[in-house]
Amino acid sequence: MLVSATEMLRKAVEGHYAVGQFNINNLEWTKSILQTAQELQSPVILGVSEGAGKYMTGFKTVAAMVGAMIDEMGITVPVATHLDHGTYDGCYKCIKAGFSSIMFDGSHYPIDENVAKTKELVAIAHAMGISIEAEVGAIGGEEDGVVGMGECADPDECKMIADLGIDFLAAGIGNIHGKYPANWKGLSFETLAAIKAKTGDMPLVLHGGTGIPADMIRKAIDLGVAKINVNTECQLSFAAATRKYIEEGKDEQGKGYDPRKLLAPGAAAIKETVKEKMELFGSVGKA
Ligand code: 13P
Repeated sequence: MLVSATEMLRKAVEGHYAVGQFNINNLEWTKSILQTAQELQSPVILGVSEGAGKYMTGFKTVAAMVGAMIDEMGITVPVATHLDHGTYDGCYKCIKAGFSSIMFDGSHYPIDENVAKTKELVAIAHAMGISIEAEVGAIGGEEDGVVGMGECADPDECKMIADLGIDFLAAGIGNIHGKYPANWKGLSFETLAAIKAKTGDMPLVLHGGTGIPADMIRKAIDLGVAKINVNTECQLSFAAATRKYIEEGKDEQGKGYDPRKLLAPGAAAIKETVKEKMELFGSVGKA
């Protein structure tokens, strides 16, 4: 069932668990994530970066594919199609394409401009029944060519953005997209607690979910994180399983070159990763 992410995240805050956002790249990714969510009776958010949207030929294709899969696969758990790190123009495109949720990432603008653009998009998204995430304090690392330094957000700026009526807030707390470097200092729980104190029941979003140790994830959820984004980890597990299949020469045995066979181990690996995360985040059985 396609829904906005508002209700599922409000419930997550109340129930002290987090809903996973898993980024999608193609049909196999989407199918594996939807199957796992249904099997585990977990709500789920399908993240689509602007680059991945372009790769899949456009946001309209993504919205149509997800809508059709929900129908054909009989998916009854709550599913949101969510633009990840959207630009101002990208947000408008996704609203038009039929996404149920958007993220406007204005974190690289001066705060006044971030406020003005977020405010405008909140009004439009809500008029269409779409949920909206905003960001304060850039997330570190590189994602689709967007490079952030991993700063910690200013809790007062978080309150300014939260007060605009957004549905959930991404705030930098030392998190980084992609693999964490060996000298990473860990999440700043002090910053997270200060943001929580200023923003009350606002569901908080933890980007860069790949490679964060389980105890830090649990502590972040305790402190108000209700949505955790995972992208790289599914890519790594897909790549490792595909490499193993080819290195074992399975693509050369019988019709092992058939794409449905060639891509099957990677798809199964994504399912396993998504399952592990849903169990860790506590969203199993919360549909
Ligand atoms: P990772 O690629 O580090 O899991 O981060 C995903 C993310 O935050 C998407 O916005």
